[in-house]
Formats: sequence, C-alpha cells, structure tokens
Amino acid sequence: MAKPIYVLNGPNLNLLGQREPEVYGHATLDDVRDRVTTRAKDFGLAIEFLQSNKEGQLVDWIQDARTEAGGLIINAGAYTHTSVAILDALLAADIPCVEVHLSNIFQREEFRHHSYISSACVGVICGFGVKSYELAVEALAERLGADRD
Ligand code: DQA
Repeated sequence: MAKPIYVLNGPNLNLLGQREPEVYGHATLDDVRDRVTTRAKDFGLAIEFLQSNKEGQLVDWIQDARTEAGGLIINAGAYTHTSVAILDALLAADIPCVEVHLSNIFQREEFRHHSYISSACVGVICGFGVKSYELAVEALAERLGADRD
C-alpha cells in the first residue's frame, strides 16, 4: 500500500464557504476534503487531510509527512507569504510537495505575489478554486507513479 498524501491547510481555511466567498467560493473545507479524497482514490492513493491556524502545528505535520507520507499538498494560507519556518520544514521533508491556492494570488495585492514556500515545491497551482487541489492530486499522482484505477 502506497503511503498517503498529506494535504495541509493553513490559517483561516477552516472558514471556507463563509470567508470572502467572492474570493474563495462557496465550498467548505469539508467539500474540499471530499473532492480531494475522491480524486486521490482514482489513483489508488489515500489522503490525510489536516487544517490548523497555527504555524508550529503545520511545521509538526510537515515533519511527520517526512516519514509517513509519499507526498504533500499544501495551502499555507497567509503563511505562504511570511513563513521561513514552513519553507525550512518543506526543504527538510524531502518528499514531493505541491503548493496550492484557491485564488489567483498574482491577481491580488502585491504582498501575496511572493511565496516563501514555492522554491521547496515541485510546482504551484493557483486560481482554480477547489479544482486547484484536484489538479495537485493529479500532478502528484503522476510524479509518484500511481496508477489510475
Ligand atoms: C490563499 C491565498 C493567501 O494569500 C491567503 O492568505 C489565504 C488563502 C488561497 O488559497 O487563495 O488564506 O492561500
């Protein structure tokens, strides 16, 4: 059995569906979890889906993923634009990681254009809403050589 893919969600993503729906859409984080899990099943992959508002908790999960996960998908929320600690954890993890964002961060305020974590990721997908996560699963599955059922 292949190791699971960890899908980590950062601050305020627990409020999806209620939070700025004109930017982030109406899907809730549970909806995201369902869609990601379904897509991963197509490739015979399991998902460990987690959310925290705390930077240190995200670092701890990335450290867990280092040994427990085959790959990682991360929407670090606002920590994307601030966190050297998350960058360092991803660099140490040494497993393929995909950065995702629901919104197109490049169409938004200038401070969102820079990501501290992109350089530790095999790729970045943003702007497609929940579909960003599904595309990340597809990209990671291909990278991991997972077979579509
Ligand atoms: C986000 C974009 C970030 O700039 C923002 O801080 C978020 C969500 C996104 O998914 O579009 O919390 O990561």
